[in-house]
Amino acid sequence: MKPNSAIPSTAPRRIPSLRGAGDPFSYVREELELVEQNLAQAIRSREQTLTDIAAHLILGGGKRVRPVVTLLAFLAFDGKRTQDIVDIATSIELIHTATLLHDDILDGAETRRGKESAFKKFGLKSTLVTGDFLFIKAFEFAGKFDETVVQWTADACALLTEGEILQGIFNRNKAVTVDDYIEIVRRKTASLFQTGAKVGAYLAGANTALIEAADCYGLNMGIAFQIIDDVLDVVGHLELLGKPTGMDLRDGNPSLPIILSLNTGDAAVCEVFKQARPSEGEISTALEAIKAGPAIRQAKALSQQYAENALRSLRKFPPSLHRNGLKTLVQLIIDRDF
Ligand code: FPP
Ligand code: MG
Repeated sequence: MKPNSAIPSTAPRRIPSLRGAGDPFSYVREELELVEQNLAQAIRSREQTLTDIAAHLILGGGKRVRPVVTLLAFLAFDGKRTQDIVDIATSIELIHTATLLHDDILDGAETRRGKESAFKKFGLKSTLVTGDFLFIKAFEFAGKFDETVVQWTADACALLTEGEILQGIFNRNKAVTVDDYIEIVRRKTASLFQTGAKVGAYLAGANTALIEAADCYGLNMGIAFQIIDDVLDVVGHLELLGKPTGMDLRDGNPSLPIILSLNTGDAAVCEVFKQARPSEGEISTALEAIKAGPAIRQAKALSQQYAENALRSLRKFPPSLHRNGLKTLVQLIIDRDF
């Protein structure tokens, strides 16, 4: 039987956009449009609940940075079979969305992309199953490729779960180090960027050294991306972020600004980080302490280093508009405020 549920009309908030004339998104506008069509099709189900929950998140905003990296990497190596890379980019965005549905359950997050989180709006059980639904849909798109692509995609998914577990091990754990953090982030965030870039190069027919360069680009820009996410959790603004700040302190997540503040022996941060239920007053005091100390500057500097690693990998790419797009994207990621 064909899935027949209606796609609910969502009224997404006016999300801030990384897009504009001459930006990396404009280099893949047509391909991105095909990804959007795939996504809208993928979330159709005979069960309206699955479609509603998926639409709530996937059609309600989202920067689509992972598909853009995947598409640009493919086009930078002069890939020709557009539909193939559109399907992989769709798969990666579906995996990402599945992890966000599950992540908001795990983090007890009330808000995502400027709206109530799916788990708050639709309940834990249905949201959990919708994550599974999207995850399976992702493999409908990725599963038709050769063994290498399927293996790399599966590896990325395994890494995501391992990253989440490793992060849990260091929850409210003052023993966490910057190296532990980088390992968490490599797995929980960078793995999807890395896989998108690597598969893009591979499907375009790039040689092993160039696939390696694409892999290195994705890994490093993914780490830089997550560091900025963590910085914004301290210094960002609710309206731009679409979620409140201070979530990492509330949840006891070992974010980079928190680890760097712990390293300076900041008493307010240390006190809040180890507490199971810090008060809102304690969280604001700790946030102010992080802002007043060196942690944000240090975190931004580390993010810049990873960004530079990503840019270095790009030097191995042949010169093209799409390589320039990947370069600009790194800068946008570093400079963003949402
Ligand atoms: C967001 O991080 C979460 C992730 C990047 C990964 C979450 C992974 C899982 C829940 C494992 C499930 C895996 C699969 C394959 C279904 P964050 O909490 O730091 O960011 P946020 O502030 O946007 O919530
Ligand atoms: Mg989260």
